[in-house]
Parts: sequence; structure tokens; C-alpha cells
Amino acid sequence: MAPISRLAVVAMLASAAFVNAAPILAPMASDAAAPALTKTDSLAAAPGSWNSELSKRGVVGTIDRCTTVGTVALTFDDGPSNYTNELLDILARKKVKATFFINGQNGNSIMAHKAVIERMHKDGHQIASHTWSHQDLATLSVTKMTEEMTKLDNAVKEIIGVRPMFMRPPYGSTNPGVLSLLKKLGYTIVLWDQDTNDWRHPKEVDISFKVYEKALGEANAINQPGHIFLQHDIHEYTVTKLAGMAIDYALEKGFKVVTVGECLGVANTKWYRK
Ligand SMILES: *[C@@H]1O[C@H](CO)[C@@H](O)[C@H](O)[C@H]1NC(C)=O
Ligand SMILES: [Zn+2]
Repeated sequence: MAPISRLAVVAMLASAAFVNAAPILAPMASDAAAPALTKTDSLAAAPGSWNSELSKRGVVGTIDRCTTVGTVALTFDDGPSNYTNELLDILARKKVKATFFINGQNGNSIMAHKAVIERMHKDGHQIASHTWSHQDLATLSVTKMTEEMTKLDNAVKEIIGVRPMFMRPPYGSTNPGVLSLLKKLGYTIVLWDQDTNDWRHPKEVDISFKVYEKALGEANAINQPGHIFLQHDIHEYTVTKLAGMAIDYALEKGFKVVTVGECLGVANTKWYRK
């Protein structure tokens, strides 16, 4: 596989305000030496602590932008949660599709949310893997990593009859071994280019919304490859406030709000396998 010639972007934001504030380039290897993580990224980072889910992008062999001009993809990680069904209502009302990078056991249990996953699928959203228990894959053995993937896949298959082929590594954390294994297992690895950082300021929706305004409001944005936005449907205001605001804004600016698969031009028959 290709070596990681471009570097992982690790943003160290003392103020935690905006994604695009002066990212510091650091080699991938630093991830492996990072401090131990707690179970959910949302709860993990005390100010100043390491957190690669901040703005990991530009990693060779992963996807962080839409290829289809004029599209944007909203992605929701770490669910499903008790808020997710309401998010599905909002998406249905606004007639747009989103992508869910779901966990099996990460604060919420996938089996407690079977109905919401069935509905996600039926409503035409894309269901993708965020691993079984949201561990940093770069710290796991090949056996453990494989288990994190297949356990989630099997649970999804039990619910909707198929297994997801798109995945996002927890914390955006990878290394050459992780990327190599995930590819061997047949996954398309999706990161993001726009991080709302909603988990850092779950009630300050305006700060998250500014990320949309900045990316989609710039002149000519609609004529460029679309953006992939990261947020988390385990946070109440992300669901009840941010999602609707973001969708309205994107539509008003003329974008199509679609799944990651669609924004990459991949037919929905290729989002899953038996
Ligand atoms: C979600 O709702 C169920 C049913 O009302 C409840 O038992 C559970 O504790 C809730 N989960 C969380 C994480 O709040
Ligand atoms: Zn996550």
C-alpha cells in the first residue's frame, strides 16, 4: 500500500473555536503514542488533551471530500441514540439524505435501537460502520481490529440484512497498518473535511453552524467538490437545532444534501454487501 506521504492533520486548538484555525502538521506515528482515550470522543477531550477527531483529513487512501460538484454530505457519528429518530423526522421533512456512522456499543447499544436503524435504511439514508465499540484502531491488534469491524457488520446484517462497506475510524485515527487491513477487508474509508466540533460545544450551535457558513458561503463553493461535514447524533442540540439549520442553509445556497455514497457517485447497491 502507499506510504503515508502526506501528513495527518492534528489541530491543536487552545480555544477550540474553529476547525480551520492553524492546524499543526504532525506525523501519523504520533497518534499511536497519544494518551489513552476514553470510550466516546464526545466525552474524551479535556481542553488541551489529544484529540485526533478534531480535524484528521488528507490521509492518503481515505476520502474526505465529495467528488460530485454541488453536493454536500452531512455525517452523524457515534449513534444511534435516543435523539436519532427525531433526526430522521427532520431529514424526512426536509427531503434530504444523510450518512450515519454507527457503533454497536458506545454508550448506546445498537440492539436497543433496531427500529431506528431499520427506518434509516428504509428512508434511504446510508448506514456505515464506526466500529463496534469506538476504540482507537491504531492501538489494536489485527485480530481485535477485525473483530471491531465484523461484530458491527454482523449486528447491522441482523437488522437490515446487509453489511456496510463504508466506514469511518473512531477519532479519525489510522496508521498504515490500519489502512491496509481495512482495505483488505474491503471497506471504503471516509473521513471528513469539515468538522463542526459539536461535541466540544454541544449547546453552542452557532459555533457549529459557522463551519457550514464558512464552507458553503464562499464564492463559487457550489462549483467545487462538495464537503463532508462531521457531527454527532448523540447530542441533543445537534439533532434538534444544528441539523435543520445546516440543511436549510445548504439548500438555500443551492447544494444537494446527499449521502456520502451519492456525493461520491457510488450507487446504493455498492454501499452494502451480503
Ligand atoms: C433512552 O431511552 C430509553 C427508553 O426510554 C431509556 O431506557 C434509556 O436510558 C435512554 N438512554 C439514554 C442514554 O438516555
Ligand atoms: Zn466517533
